[in-house]
Amino acid sequence: MAEAHITERAPTRAYVIHPDIDGAGNQRRTAENALEEAVALAQALPGVEIVGAQAARLRKPSPGQLFTKGKLEELGRELEAAEAELVLIDGPVTPVQQRNLEKAWDVKILDRTGLILEIFADRARTREGVLQVELAALSYQRTRLVRAWTHLERQRGGLGFVGGPGETQIEADRRAIDEQMTRLRRQLERVVKTRTLHRASRAKVPYPIVALVGYTNAGKSTLFNRLTGAEVLAKDMLFATLDPTMRAIRLPGGRQIILSDTVGFISDLPTELVAAFRATLEEVLEADLILHVRDISHPETEEQAEDVAEILDSLGVADDVALIEVWNKIDALSDATRQALRRTDQRTDGVQAISALTGEGLDDLAAAIDKALETVLAEPREPAAIHLDFSEGRRRAWLHEQGVVEDERQTKDGFDLQVMWTERQRASYDAL
Ligand code: GTP
Repeated sequence: MAEAHITERAPTRAYVIHPDIDGAGNQRRTAENALEEAVALAQALPGVEIVGAQAARLRKPSPGQLFTKGKLEELGRELEAAEAELVLIDGPVTPVQQRNLEKAWDVKILDRTGLILEIFADRARTREGVLQVELAALSYQRTRLVRAWTHLERQRGGLGFVGGPGETQIEADRRAIDEQMTRLRRQLERVVKTRTLHRASRAKVPYPIVALVGYTNAGKSTLFNRLTGAEVLAKDMLFATLDPTMRAIRLPGGRQIILSDTVGFISDLPTELVAAFRATLEEVLEADLILHVRDISHPETEEQAEDVAEILDSLGVADDVALIEVWNKIDALSDATRQALRRTDQRTDGVQAISALTGEGLDDLAAAIDKALETVLAEPREPAAIHLDFSEGRRRAWLHEQGVVEDERQTKDGFDLQVMWTERQRASYDAL
């Protein structure tokens, strides 16, 4: 009756296991912290309740069921006691391992890639974000089909059922996936083209772009909201911001800027997800100034900062791009540490200690942004002549996006361009 309308489906009872494999994984992280991060990730999954978590020490993953027989039974007892329905394994799990574990424990299994894909799918908001996530999900599914198929073949012990029914079905599934992927790629190309047009028109806005980057949960959205007075999603959830959000604001000194919030970084991002992640981070490449927001109260703040630096580097963000390190969450530290940090930031160029929550240090941060932009915008520009073939549309689009083209003439095999650019833009262009 009426009750039926208000009864929500009970959340799925999920248990998180972080396989702590000897000599594998990211050596900079302890198993406890890795487990904590995995739990935080799992909490971002909608409709899930975490009923338990543990790091499981492993000397060597077993190909059949990941864990040793003893460990498998021990974990099985824990899962039963916790009445777990879903087990999130914070690492890669092969289709064979997945099937065996699901049978042994009578649960559903989701591995790390599957988990992050679910979260991305839930959070993707722009058309491009959605398409990239779908594409990543399909290629994930496809590799699993391929692997399952290899396994089947091996199970048949070389009896030579070439073209047997199982294989035909998997071939058909693979073909269907391939076709769907081709369709998605075509759609993506169209979306990216439109976005380039949007960007080109935005490049004409004479405001410098300031991009917030940082480890997931560092407090980017909270800072963004503080600075813009806008309600973006600021929750204690990982990936609350998958797609870049942009706002124009005026700094206290009067300068107008565009502030751009980006998706959070994460350690050991599964390779299948890198493209989806990058698509959401491209804005960073166009930023005049990067604010690297760090949770300075986090026990692994140094390791996180190294991860962010590595990813920025791999994205092609040049070393000399202006960057301010924003040491956030100083309110969570002891008074003495907080005072010390506030003093350090006054001595160290490019560092600002703040609390996005209480607002402490924000005036100084705004002044530092203003000062950094003044230097960036005063960079000397040099003229250059460039010839591009018709096939180099990407380079041409980039130059237009940057707003550096002074003159352009079509020739019989392409374009002659006159540009005025900074040393930094020239270096980024060379790296394209
Ligand atoms: P992603 O979207 O996952 O990348 O996270 P984010 O970097 O945008 O973090 P967000 O702003 O969502 O903040 C994460 C959590 O940290 C929230 O619970 C915030 O309330 C909290 N937080 C943010 N800034 C501060 C701060 O200065 N001090 C304290 N104590 N907590 C903060």
